[in-house]
Amino acid sequence: MKLLEGKNAMIFGVANQRSIAWGIAKAFHEHGASIGLSYAGEALERRVKPLAESIGCNLVEQCDVSQDDQIEAVRQRAIEEFGEIDVLVHAIGFANRDELSGFYYNTSRAGFHLAMDISVFSFTALAKAFQPHFRTGGALLTMTAYGSEKVSPQYNIMGVAKAALESSVRYLAYDFGKQGVRVNAISAGPVRTLAAAGVSGFKELYRHFPEFAPLHQPIYIEDVGNAAVFLCSDLAAKITGEITFVDSGYNILGNPESID
Ligand SMILES: NC(=O)c1ccc[n+]([C@@H]2O[C@H](COP(=O)([O-])OP(=O)(O)OC[C@H]3O[C@@H](n4cnc5c(N)ncnc54)[C@H](O)[C@@H]3O)[C@@H](O)[C@H]2O)c1
Repeated sequence: MKLLEGKNAMIFGVANQRSIAWGIAKAFHEHGASIGLSYAGEALERRVKPLAESIGCNLVEQCDVSQDDQIEAVRQRAIEEFGEIDVLVHAIGFANRDELSGFYYNTSRAGFHLAMDISVFSFTALAKAFQPHFRTGGALLTMTAYGSEKVSPQYNIMGVAKAALESSVRYLAYDFGKQGVRVNAISAGPVRTLAAAGVSGFKELYRHFPEFAPLHQPIYIEDVGNAAVFLCSDLAAKITGEITFVDSGYNILGNPESID
């Protein structure tokens, strides 16, 4: 059964074949969605274009989400292509690498603003830009992490940003509810991507994760993609403002079992 047949989806945040956004794009394609992809900048074009071609996607647009004129340009292009849209996926995050290690209190004012702008505000900015073009029954989706709720050492400003992002999900869900459009987030366990490589200690966390997580399974971009299909499909018609964990159950633990 194809769950997204007839739906138009804009997906922001593909950097390469390891990106969570790419896992979502593949799953959406398998479920019959028409897809538009957006990537951050020229340097990524040669990686993203072949991926887009492999799923028959004609709309591949550059958009640095810190620039309002670029958001406007991608909105115009998307509306030219699709007319109306049903799904918008935001899988974007950024913080200065040197602020993803050491003490959180060393976060600079500029680094704080940058992380909040790109990792949090951009979801609201995209939601606003596309708001008039959403069909009833549509869905917005963003990506968060457990470091929003509990301290994940070295995740620092990204943890704080994810807390703000999750709150944005709830406020946006309230606003968009009036037009019958849902807003949710997936909280993914550790996935080996470019963004994750920037967080100090990620490799260790990734390596030990399956030992501790209740399902003892690592998280793949395909797992996130499948959950995204559900959340953006009519099967999730009454789910909005929620954070859904795709983490092999890691978040239910109080403390991990000790290993010998
Ligand atoms: N990898 C993980 O373990 C993990 C876990 C939970 C949540 N997440 C979240 O998933 C999302 C996707 O990250 P990923 O892990 O797939 O890594 P990724 O590096 O593949 O994706 C991050 C994307 O953000 C984009 N980006 C950064 N600055 C941008 C800007 N100014 N304008 C437009 N795009 C910009 C990058 O180009 C890239 O495509 C992020 O929000 C991340 O925090 C990742």
